[in-house]
Amino acid sequence: MIGRLFSVVSQRAPSLLHRVSLMMKPQVVFVLGGPGAGKGTQCSNIVENYSYTHLSAGDLLRAERAREGSEFGQLIASYIKEGKIVPVEITINLLRKAMEETMQKDEKKFRFLIDGFPRNEDNLQGWNNVMKDKADVKFVLFFDCSTEVCIQRCLERGKSSGRTDDNRESLEKRIQTYQQSTRPIIELYEKLGKVCRVDASRSVEVFADVKAILDKED
Ligand code: ADP
Ligand code: C5P
Ligand code: MG
Repeated sequence: MIGRLFSVVSQRAPSLLHRVSLMMKPQVVFVLGGPGAGKGTQCSNIVENYSYTHLSAGDLLRAERAREGSEFGQLIASYIKEGKIVPVEITINLLRKAMEETMQKDEKKFRFLIDGFPRNEDNLQGWNNVMKDKADVKFVLFFDCSTEVCIQRCLERGKSSGRTDDNRESLEKRIQTYQQSTRPIIELYEKLGKVCRVDASRSVEVFADVKAILDKED
């Protein structure tokens, strides 16, 4: 019995070792910028041209809000409408699960664009507690966009997005949250020399700049 067990384990061991050696540590780019700056749009462009997986914290939270039986649905709904940042315990679990699932399906998918995170101190602490040792943050891709342009883009998107927060009332709060809580996080990474800034107010040329950054950083 023990002999048989040993032979099963030793037969499996090489493939297990092989898998582990192929499993790369996740490489992460945080994507930040105001509401409507174009984070999602540019992440889609990147995915089409580079081997990155796009994970939007906002999209993951909206999916959790809609998930039947979610114990967090109502809390998430009210935070989103109020433009507030959901407690990180919820968000980090969604991100971690999405990263793990992606890598389990295909071990070559170890590059991630994490869009809309970390948005405040609490987000950053949660990342450091749960993910710091499990993933490398390469840099922050910062879509710098004027408040006026952000508001116009979100109001325009609101005509068809069905989002509960693409309206003037929520937008005022989202912009305030961005200025008060997210900008300091971007500044913190700037001090570490880890921010790549793109002028995102323009209607063209944004992706050309993104490409130049990725080609240089990769
Ligand atoms: P974010 O994810 O940062 O909130 P999105 O990528 O969803 O922003 O873009 C917000 C809205 O602005 C969308 O309707 C999108 O089509 C539009 N948009 C994105 N980038 C640009 C741009 N450079 N010029 C004009 N409109 C843009
Ligand atoms: O990035 P997006 O615009 O999709 O985010 C929408 C909302 O989701 C935010 O205004 C916020 O309420 C919530 N969110 C959050 N924590 C994050 C990302 C998004 O609470 N890290
Ligand atoms: Mg988005």
